[in-house]
Amino acid sequence: MPAVALPVLGAEDVLAGLRALRTRQPVKFAAFYSSQLGGIVTDPALMIIPFDDHMVHRGHGIFDTAGLVNGRIYDLEAHLDRFLGSAERSKLKLAGSREEMRDIIIKTAAVSQLRDGAIRYWLSSGPGSLELSPAAGAQPGFFVMIFGGLSYPERWYTDGLRVMTTTYPIKPPLYAITKATNYLPNVLMQMEAKEAGLDNGVFIDENGFVGESSNMNVAFVTRDGVFRHPQFKSVLPGCTSLRLLDLAKELVGRVITAVEVSDIPVSDARAAREMLLLGSSVKVAPIVEWDRQPIADGKPGPVARALLNLLEEDMRTGDRLIDVPY
Ligand SMILES: Cc1ncc(COP(=O)(O)O)c(C=O)c1O
Repeated sequence: MPAVALPVLGAEDVLAGLRALRTRQPVKFAAFYSSQLGGIVTDPALMIIPFDDHMVHRGHGIFDTAGLVNGRIYDLEAHLDRFLGSAERSKLKLAGSREEMRDIIIKTAAVSQLRDGAIRYWLSSGPGSLELSPAAGAQPGFFVMIFGGLSYPERWYTDGLRVMTTTYPIKPPLYAITKATNYLPNVLMQMEAKEAGLDNGVFIDENGFVGESSNMNVAFVTRDGVFRHPQFKSVLPGCTSLRLLDLAKELVGRVITAVEVSDIPVSDARAAREMLLLGSSVKVAPIVEWDRQPIADGKPGPVARALLNLLEEDMRTGDRLIDVPY
């Protein structure tokens, strides 16, 4: 076998390599802030993090994602609340105050010039060693990425999605409610569903209660019209779910009879009138088939549509919007 040529690279070679990578795989990343770099970059080749950052090699980091809608950031305070809760449970030091992080997020969004997309931000425990515990004196890192956002096929909204119960175990409660960078179960669940020709998976907990999907919550409309959501014990407290549980009160007496958060046995869930997928990226989408069985008549229902309308209205004209100073 011929020996592999392994050059020892200098700084310029590395930069050329990073640029070549982005040429092979173009990405829609518009701006990136790094506390380690001390500023914002717009060239995706420069959106990098040191390999020895504890977030990279041990998964000791957390993140959150908020939406950028029409030049405004939607519900950032709810996402920051969750971010700070995740940081505390992960024993991560903050890289600045909440106000400073909010300010950096807004300024990075302004530099991006993007008006619609997503804002994802991370807190890492920092570089300095390859140990299991963070390096002594490691500086926490804060990173913000403004990008095109996740997009889903139009048919999810018009025809509905098809999901399966995943064979992968659900995260224990502490890890489920903490938005850490350890998404292996979520990744495997989504890959498994795609390999089966389906759209996504659903976790079920050890007591037989419905959990959540890969990066979205699930909820139901019962036969008697209750909008029913799983408790936030073994599932991430979705900002979209929490907002919709409040907004949905407007629909009581119209398309729903009540709003309820409770443990949902799989048997109740399978008998639902509607099954819904909720999240910042997907918003509200109807699930019409679960484990190859139709949900009710296998067609998208009116509550999915009504909730989507409520959420879109809140994103356009609600009181949870921050103007980006472009
Ligand atoms: C595992 C998981 N569940 C649920 C959600 C939905 O949360 P949100 O509505 O805040 O997007 C997400 C997305 O952040 C997630 O990653």
